[in-house]
Amino acid sequence: MTDPILALKGVTRRYRTGGGFFSKETITTAVDDVSLTVAPGEVCAIVGESGSGKSTLARIAAGFDLPDGGAALFRGAPYARPGSAAWRRERAVVQFVFQNPSGALDPRASIASQIGEMLTTHERCDPATRAARIDDILDRVGLAGMGRRVPQQMSGGQLQRAVLARALVVRPELLICDEAVSALDVSVQAQILNLLMSLKDEFGLTMIFITHDLGVARHVGDRIAVMQKGRIVENRRTHYLFDSPRAAYTRTLLAAIPAATPAARRAREAAAARETAA
Ligand SMILES: Nc1ncnc2c1ncn2[C@@H]1O[C@H](COP(=O)(O)OP(=O)(O)O)[C@@H](O)[C@H]1O
Ligand SMILES: [Mg+2]
Repeated sequence: MTDPILALKGVTRRYRTGGGFFSKETITTAVDDVSLTVAPGEVCAIVGESGSGKSTLARIAAGFDLPDGGAALFRGAPYARPGSAAWRRERAVVQFVFQNPSGALDPRASIASQIGEMLTTHERCDPATRAARIDDILDRVGLAGMGRRVPQQMSGGQLQRAVLARALVVRPELLICDEAVSALDVSVQAQILNLLMSLKDEFGLTMIFITHDLGVARHVGDRIAVMQKGRIVENRRTHYLFDSPRAAYTRTLLAAIPAATPAARRAREAAAARETAA
């Protein structure tokens, strides 16, 4: 078997809140003993409802946050301490795309200059190469000729394309998308998902794709890990998960998608037949 790009081993992360003069301290276990490996070129979707620990896990998987217990290994080695020089060098190989693209971009700077800044932070390149790399990546995300625009002059879908361009210009090895399409209209969602899938093939990307939407996870994921209350309750290849879900919680999620499984489809047909007969 090929070595995984990312391996999480028994990762746990707790948050302490309160504990001041007026409130009792509470401890939330946001991620609870999670183990997960992501192979090169694989898209691992992580699904779960809000508060299940997906974003906390994403930050640990990206090396932005350290676990309280267990380990996050990137290509077999733990991430450097956040903020250190070694950690800053690591930032290029793991890129992050969040839900809200306008919050991720500087409203005053052109898209091209923000992509260029990412490039010069992580690589030495002469002005001509830099300009060519910016043009090339804008072209690949479908924003050819729009580099001079500022965020205000672009739609939500275009902004998320710009964020993707900025993440991919440094040719990362792992791309982590946390609810990257959740804020977009359904039709724009589909465009961005299709773009992501073609970029994935083109760049040979490995991806962790986080979503609360099992339909979206099915569209992009080679594998789906289902999270509930900080734990992964099921983690299997997408078609197995849909054909024969094992965890009760996965079945609940599947039942919420109209006719997602053969069983759900039969149940729906049976209900329709009863209605016709009545
Ligand atoms: N910075 C934080 N401080 C305290 N609690 C947090 C913090 N971030 C997340 N949590 C809590 O951890 C749990 C998991 O949150 P999160 O990882 O954001 O889940 P998700 O992304 O699935 O919605 C939630 O109960 C949330 O309230
Ligand atoms: Mg989240």
